[in-house]
Amino acid sequence: MPMDDIECNGEREMLDETPQEEPCSVRKDIPESTNGKGKRELKPPRVLEALSASGLRALRYAREVEGIGQVVALDNDKASVEACRRNIKFNGSVACSKVESHLTDARVFMLTHPKEFDVVDLDPYGSPSVFLDSAVQSVVDGGMLMCTATDMAVLCGGNGEVCYSKYGSYPLRGKYCHEMALRILLACIESHANRYKRYIVPVLSVQMDFYIRVFVRIYTSASAMKNTPLKLSYVYQCIGCDSFHLQQIGRTVSKNNSVRYLPGFGPVVPQECTDCGKKFNMGGPIWSAPIHDLEWVTSILADLKSMKDRYPAYDRISAVLTTISEELPDIPLFLSLHNLCATLKCTSPSAVVFRSAVINAGYRISGTHVNPLGLKTDAPMDVIWDIMRCWVKSHPVKEQPSDQPGSVILAKEPAFQANFARAVASLSKAQAKKVARFLPNPERHWGPKLRAGRQITSKHISLLGPEAVNGSLKHDHDDGDEEAQGEAKRQKTADPTLVS
Ligand SMILES: C[S@@+](CC[C@H](N)C(=O)[O-])C[C@H]1O[C@@H](n2cnc3c(N)ncnc32)[C@H](O)[C@@H]1O
Ligand SMILES: [Zn+2]
Repeated sequence: MPMDDIECNGEREMLDETPQEEPCSVRKDIPESTNGKGKRELKPPRVLEALSASGLRALRYAREVEGIGQVVALDNDKASVEACRRNIKFNGSVACSKVESHLTDARVFMLTHPKEFDVVDLDPYGSPSVFLDSAVQSVVDGGMLMCTATDMAVLCGGNGEVCYSKYGSYPLRGKYCHEMALRILLACIESHANRYKRYIVPVLSVQMDFYIRVFVRIYTSASAMKNTPLKLSYVYQCIGCDSFHLQQIGRTVSKNNSVRYLPGFGPVVPQECTDCGKKFNMGGPIWSAPIHDLEWVTSILADLKSMKDRYPAYDRISAVLTTISEELPDIPLFLSLHNLCATLKCTSPSAVVFRSAVINAGYRISGTHVNPLGLKTDAPMDVIWDIMRCWVKSHPVKEQPSDQPGSVILAKEPAFQANFARAVASLSKAQAKKVARFLPNPERHWGPKLRAGRQITSKHISLLGPEAVNGSLKHDHDDGDEEAQGEAKRQKTADPTLVS
C-alpha cells in the first residue's frame, strides 16, 4: 500500500507543542552508501513497532540504539497515534528524523510491506496470535521478530481450548507451564513462518513478571523448513505423578548421503504411567529445540558488563541472562523438586543434594530462568524417582493410602543406589560466584495495569494497589468516567521521554 493511502505524521499533522530539544526537521531517507571500493555497506536497520501506543518503545529505539535507521510506529487507535506524534516532536530532532507514526491496522501494513523490516516488534495487549501471520512476512531474510504475549492464563492452561484456538497447541498445567508457554508461542510463530517457506531460529526467549517475550530470526528456505517436525514435540504428562515425556513429531533417516523425512515413532508412553499407574494428558505441540542462542547470550552478557553504568536495570538483566546462559539448551521442560516431594509427601532434599545425586548418577542438571525451583535434566523419570526412593529410605514418610501415586512409586525398590555426596558441579556458576539469579520485583503491585478504557473498580486492588484504586474511584465520582479510565493508561506511560 502506498504511504499516501494511510494517515502518517506529515508536517501538516504535527501538533502545536514546543519541542524539548531542537525543532523537528523533515525526515530524510537514509541513503544507500558504498565504502568507496564499490562494496555496499550494511544499511542502518529499519524497525517496525507494529503496536506502538504512545510511541514509548519506538522513541527509545530511535534515541538509544546506536546506528538505528528508520523506526515506523503503527497503531489503529487515533488517540494513541496523536500521543505518539506529540511524543516524537517532544523528543527532538533525532526522534523527528527517525520515527514516523501511522494510523493504520498493523496487519494490513505488515502484509503490504513484505520482507521490508530488519526488526518487527509486536507488543500487544494479551495475545499476539492475530498479528503473527502478517508479522512473519514483514521481516527481511535473517531479520528479527520480537514478540510479547501477556495472556499467561491462556498459555499456561487456564483454558486449554482457548490456547488451542489461538496458538494451535494444547497447554498443560505443570510447574513448567511458563516455559511451555514460551515454547507454544515459538511453535506457533514457526507454523506461520512455514506457510511462506520460512523458518525461525530463536535467539532469546524470556519469561518475566507477567509476560513472555521471544526474539527470533526469520529465514526463507524450503529445504531447511523440512526440519520443522524435528523441532516440535507433543508432551505426555501423567495425571497422577506429573512425570512428563516428550514425543518428537518427525524424524529423519539418512542413507547414502540422502535424508528421508518421516513421522516420529510413537507412542513414547504406554496407556498407564509406569511410575504410578495413572493416565496421561497430552499437550503440545511445543517447540522442543533450543530457545536461546547461547553464543549470543554470552556475548550480550559481556557487552552488558562493559556498559554496566548505562543500564539502570543492570542487576535484573544480568541476573536473567546469567541464569539463561547456564540452562541446559537441549532440555525442553523442567522438574520441580517441591512437586516431586509433594507427590511422595516427603521432606525435600536441598537443591544441591538433589543435583549431586543426578550428577553422580551420570546425568546433567541445570536451573532455569523461568522458576527458581525448576531443574532441567537429561535424567529419565525412572532415574529421578529412583533417586527420590533412595532419599525417602533415609527420610521416611507417613504411610499413605496404597492407591495414591506416591505410595505406588514408593512401593517399588530403586534400581540403583543414589549417591547424595556433594558433586563439584552441583552449584550453578552463578550460585558459586554469588551472582543473584532471581531478583524481587522493583515495586509493590508490579505487573500489568488495566487496558486503556477499562473502568477501575474495587476488584482491581490486587492489580493496582489500594491507593490507585481509591484515588480513581474518588475521581470517578468527582470527574466522571474518563478521568478514572485514563489513570491506568497514564500509569503505563509514565516515562520521562513522554508527554501526556
Ligand atoms: C500494549 S499496547 C502497546 C504498548 C507499546 N508497545 C509500549 O511499549 O508502550 C498495544 C497497542 O496496540 C494497538 N492495537 C491493537 N490492535 C491493533 C491493530 N490491529 N493495528 C494497530 N494497532 C493495534 C492498541 O491500540 C494499543 O495501543
Ligand atoms: Zn505417574
